Amino acid sequence: MIDRNMKTPPQHGGRLQAAAEQFNIPLSDWLDLSTGINPVNWNVPSIPQQIWQRLPERYEQLEAAAAQYYGAQVLAIPGSQWAIQNLPTVLKAERVWLPKEAYEEHQYWWLRHQRNLCFYESLAAITPNQYDAVVCINPNNPTGNTESVADIIELADRLQSLQGYLILDEAFMDPTPEHSVLCYDQELPASLIVLRSLGKFFGLAGLRLGFVYGGESIREHLQRQLGPWAVSHPAAYIGELALRDTNWHCYARTQLKEQSNQLQRLLLQIVPANNLRSTHLFCTLRLTESKADSLYNHCARHGILVRHFPQWAKIRVGLTTKNGMERLQSALQCWET
Ligand SMILES: Cc1ncc(COP(=O)(O)O)c(C=O)c1O
Repeated sequence: MIDRNMKTPPQHGGRLQAAAEQFNIPLSDWLDLSTGINPVNWNVPSIPQQIWQRLPERYEQLEAAAAQYYGAQVLAIPGSQWAIQNLPTVLKAERVWLPKEAYEEHQYWWLRHQRNLCFYESLAAITPNQYDAVVCINPNNPTGNTESVADIIELADRLQSLQGYLILDEAFMDPTPEHSVLCYDQELPASLIVLRSLGKFFGLAGLRLGFVYGGESIREHLQRQLGPWAVSHPAAYIGELALRDTNWHCYARTQLKEQSNQLQRLLLQIVPANNLRSTHLFCTLRLTESKADSLYNHCARHGILVRHFPQWAKIRVGLTTKNGMERLQSALQCWET
């Protein structure tokens, strides 16, 4: 049953401690495939003492590195989650369109701010009124659905003429930057707000660093909401270095593509191609309710945590290294479908 009112905060992947207790397997024995985070993170160097000691004065260098990396002027925020939580306080939209299956924090925070929600299966099905906002996640987590830049721009133009907004969550876009709307070669519509994250591709989820692109007035509103030191000095220091490391970006993109292909090949041994969707950071299986349940429990009994979405009968599997793949393969081989 989908809890459309979301009285309780959504749950997320990565809850290893709870799994360790439930399945009585020591924490250190688990293989965590329950997130869409790069299993090989950007290697964090040691941080100079004064970075710890002093408050960050400005984020100019960080934002300059981000502008170069994303191809647009962006505002540094403590994770894209911060924007998800705060946009409802900044945007007046009364009605908000959300993907039917998606990262549930969007829904949760709009509901907390008492907005009316509509759910859509495809962008083409959206019929916006004046002042509506649309949330689009590209690629979508967990469905893996993708939208074209042309369709996104077309919708953003439509919303602009209705004085509405398009909030585009590109948290998982970094492996395929050529599909980002920020690479669009013409001026972006003023209705467009784009969220980016350093958590997924860089594998730095714990750093709590992200960016938001938006028109000047939105950036100013968000800036005021942020206050003076919302992004920690170590996060700004590390983020700048990671964003400038173009050699690593190329290496990581190649690695992730290869790992995703390997994972797809493995998962195709247990589901037909129609039931498998993939991005360069995770794969998602569409199953029956009982099979999703069975696969989740089977993997957990082997000390492998995957993400179960019982409300949609889906299992999301994150990428892993060679050893992890071997472990997953041997667990899947003895799953009774
Ligand atoms: C689609 C999507 N957007 C945004 C976020 C938030 O990421 P962060 O706050 O680490 O940037 C997540 C986290 O899982 C996500 O799945």
